[in-house]
Amino acid sequence: MSKNFVAINSTKANFDDIYVKEDPRAYFSVLGALDYMIPDVAAPVVRQVIAAYARRYGRRPRVLDVGCSYGINAAVHRFPMTFATLRRRYARHEMATLEPDEVAHLDRHYYASWPDKGIASFIGLDASAQAIRYAKDVGLIEDGIAADLEREELTSDAADVVGNADIVLSTGAVGYVSEKTFASIVDAASRPLWVVSFVLRMFPYDGFEALFDKAGLVTEHLGSALFTQRRFVDLAEFEHCLAGLSRRGLDSRGLESRGLLQAGLFVSRPADDVRHARLEDIVTISVGRNRPTGPRYVHVPALEGHSVALEP
Ligand SMILES: C[S@@+](CC[C@H](N)C(=O)[O-])C[C@H]1O[C@@H](n2cnc3c(N)ncnc32)[C@H](O)[C@@H]1O
Repeated sequence: MSKNFVAINSTKANFDDIYVKEDPRAYFSVLGALDYMIPDVAAPVVRQVIAAYARRYGRRPRVLDVGCSYGINAAVHRFPMTFATLRRRYARHEMATLEPDEVAHLDRHYYASWPDKGIASFIGLDASAQAIRYAKDVGLIEDGIAADLEREELTSDAADVVGNADIVLSTGAVGYVSEKTFASIVDAASRPLWVVSFVLRMFPYDGFEALFDKAGLVTEHLGSALFTQRRFVDLAEFEHCLAGLSRRGLDSRGLESRGLLQAGLFVSRPADDVRHARLEDIVTISVGRNRPTGPRYVHVPALEGHSVALEP
């Protein structure tokens, strides 16, 4: 990892202990209490990029979620749920006394009981063997690699799994992982990748862009949109972040200065794919789509066209 990332990380809150529990209760409790929301706000963009890939290549893609943790991006993509609803599930006092294998057993049935609206399959990479085990065990990811590619090489079995990916996704992971991890992924790829990264603004992405450029991928940054990740843990994290952004020449007024960490969106694709449709043609941001709490009229896909339902 670059010295720069190590220095930035030293000023960011440390959540290492909640990443390595056998089940996601502590993860949702601690990050939920900080209004962690990046999987929810990223989900509509992720769906649109996956749909664009499926249109372009005529097949259902396989997404490699880097720093997938307990498979949350797969959960919010595949099932009608959000980080916020999952957080409430785990916050029930009835959940508190269960053993981790009981939680996994219930979650396996919980996810199996929802219609799968996914338009991609998911595989995951995470340094936490516990998180990967859980995500596979409950059926959120088809395959998982427990490895820290900042420090280790990809084994040949893991390279075979990575080699099957079409899209590489990350939320809340850049910073923990540097271009070193992505270099191993790019090397193992058996076809041109699309790489979709939601990156906190304090982490420079130039090294990643240079890596992708060498691999023939063009990186676009959606300059007009930012995605809220979470609240700051404390005053020190807030002040360090604002100072870091200022050193990078970034204006935090009305953004991080309002107490919320912000991530940018970077998407890297083969040059032909970018020429065919630019990022801004693929992605439409609808601010506030997750906010309504009253009933909404919705289109429901039907055999022919769609029907209309009133969703509570
Ligand atoms: C903030 S969580 C993000 C999890 C998930 N993507 C989300 O948004 O909910 C960061 C994740 O990165 C993982 N991580 C940390 N260092 C890593 C590394 N070197 N390689 C892969 N994953 C790592 C952690 O175990 C953790 O699951």
